[in-house]
Amino acid sequence: MRDHRVRILSNAPETPTYWRLRVHLSEAFAARPGQFVMMRARDQWEPIWRRPLVIYRMEEHAEGVHLEFLYKVLGRGTALLSRQRPGDELEMLGPLGNGFPTGENPEAEAILVSGGIGLPALYLLAEALARDKRPIRLFHGEPTVEPGIPFPFLEDFARVLKPEAITLATEDGSQGVRGLVTEALEADLERARPRRAVLYACGPTPMLRRVAEIAARWELPAYVSLEARMACGFGVCLGCAVKTQFASDRAPHYRRACIEGPVFRAEEVIWDEL
Ligand SMILES: Cc1cc2nc3c(=O)[nH]c(=O)nc-3n(C[C@H](O)[C@H](O)[C@H](O)COP(=O)(O)OP(=O)(O)OC[C@H]3O[C@@H](n4cnc5c(N)ncnc54)[C@H](O)[C@@H]3O)c2cc1C
Ligand code: FES
Repeated sequence: MRDHRVRILSNAPETPTYWRLRVHLSEAFAARPGQFVMMRARDQWEPIWRRPLVIYRMEEHAEGVHLEFLYKVLGRGTALLSRQRPGDELEMLGPLGNGFPTGENPEAEAILVSGGIGLPALYLLAEALARDKRPIRLFHGEPTVEPGIPFPFLEDFARVLKPEAITLATEDGSQGVRGLVTEALEADLERARPRRAVLYACGPTPMLRRVAEIAARWELPAYVSLEARMACGFGVCLGCAVKTQFASDRAPHYRRACIEGPVFRAEEVIWDEL
């Protein structure tokens, strides 16, 4: 983990909901899939805490690294970020968190499941798994997307995964299959009945909880990336503590989503207490 200064290359809305931020970093940077940074504008004092953003894509260039983030404007921190222009500098602390494990069950199919702004946590994972020649499928859910216009971030994934390995579920049926992404996942598991697969998920808590239930039903290992509210991002404020239990003793333990997480084994999360 280090403090970095990055320069904005572009920062613009790409759909009615999502902004894509592209920054340049003029030094080496390595991150595992699912790791995140804490970001804020350089001259910004309010809000005082930086905001967590997962690293969506990374590209190495002769003169440094280009990093990409996707974000939704929700409150003051992300509204301020959306006002930053190309050439402006941001303070970026990272990489942070544990990230997704990629080496386990190397023969198993990887099933990636995302809801809404959970999607960016899965791109580096898809790239890493594709490099290892793992079979991969992606299920992504949105409340709605513009009919007839390709969802740009799934086009990013289609450069790494086979396009037919990508399922889009929309709640209103505007594109893809109608319904919740977990319904599409369940229907597919019923059809394919995989004996060896690992689930990797990021999205809203109710979706992650459902993924955990589905994984338990099919006796599949599952990793979920939790979206806890974070202040420091590096383990000192304890603001991101989540109640978990270890499989070994079932005893409850608080673990910090920013250090021991944000990725946890699904069966270790005490869902009723999130
Ligand atoms: C590890 C991690 C990685 C993340 N990566 C991304 C990302 O890549 N892109 C992205 O858009 N967002 C991401 N988030 C969520 C993002 O950090 C929050 O949306 C952001 O902090 C909101 O800040 P704000 O000042 O705009 O809103 P605030 O004024 O702090 O909050 C406004 C509203 O946003 C919602 N909100 C705030 N924080 C969270 C949160 N952590 N999870 C869910 N809802 C929240 C609440 O409903 C709140 O009422 C991530 C969160 C975590 C923990
Ligand atoms: S955000 Fe401060 S301990 Fe995790």
